[in-house]
Amino acid sequence: MTDLNALIDRLPKAELHLHLEGSLEPELMFEMARRNQVEIPFKTVDEVRAAYEFANLQEFLDIYYVGMNVLITEQDFFDLTWAYLERAHADTVRHVEVFFDPQGHTGRGVAFETVITGITRALAKAEAEWGLTSRLILCFLRHLSEEAAFETLEQAKPYLAQIEAVGLDSSELGHPPSKFERVFAAAAELGLKRVAHAGEEGPPEYVYEALDLLKIDRLDHGNRALEDEALVNRLAGEGMTFTVCPLSNLKLCGVPDLRQHPLKRMLELGLKVTVNSDDPSYFGGYVNENFKQTAVAVGLNEADIIALARNSFTGSFLPQAEIDRRLAEIDALVEAA
Ligand code: ADE
Ligand code: ZN
Repeated sequence: MTDLNALIDRLPKAELHLHLEGSLEPELMFEMARRNQVEIPFKTVDEVRAAYEFANLQEFLDIYYVGMNVLITEQDFFDLTWAYLERAHADTVRHVEVFFDPQGHTGRGVAFETVITGITRALAKAEAEWGLTSRLILCFLRHLSEEAAFETLEQAKPYLAQIEAVGLDSSELGHPPSKFERVFAAAAELGLKRVAHAGEEGPPEYVYEALDLLKIDRLDHGNRALEDEALVNRLAGEGMTFTVCPLSNLKLCGVPDLRQHPLKRMLELGLKVTVNSDDPSYFGGYVNENFKQTAVAVGLNEADIIALARNSFTGSFLPQAEIDRRLAEIDALVEAA
């Protein structure tokens, strides 16, 4: 197993499912709370970590939205993003496609411009310093209205050059993709790609809606698609990329034990799966930790791990030449081993 860990540590990889606000570590949360004089309902970093026990997605989201209240200035969004990029770089992540939740900030009076300027400044610095490339995905909060999503899309219009795709996140149950069919169509008209969380807690019908109504280019989570054989065959046939987040699924009780995680089964079914960290500060591990713990728990072999790393690039929104360059790096590493 040591060899597998060494392979994971060194493999070039892309991370395709990461909420920037979910990478806010408690230490940084406290620093920002102090400098911005924002009240948070915790006295110590240990108290924060102790609160990170969740029975389901909603219990996590309730704390996630409280945590992001400390983010106020452009520097805060820069610091948040930069801290994540440093962790990703340490995990030999060469490309990231990150989510941000503008409505979690504009709803508190923080300007859209403040958010996106801080984030993109950090993304540009990582590319300049390390060649770590990135794309930005604007997520609509699905517990809010269609009208609010349209307002957010309007606010994004001056920044479209910096936004690759729209996504859909937050409370899944009771907020089906169909609620956002029109806003996703408008985003497509603007040239934006589309992704959506579906089948994390929601039923297979939500995955069908994401495919047929939102016309997604990539499926976030997708675990519950496995309950529907016809859907699995369709997703395999279409080569749809799944952004799977094993430690997130464990922490949010989508699986009772990591040994019962469906990642290996998804690979065996011919699904194009990738491994990602989702909200690493809340779920106990960045991307390499997700690979390592899952490899032990479900018995991934070297070929599986290499396939997952390759899928992370072929499932990305990078141009083909960049994908080919990263795949060649993976091949070179494997051959040298
Ligand atoms: N927002 C942040 N993390 C999320 C998740 N795992 N599911 C839905 N919305 C989220
Ligand atoms: Zn997510």
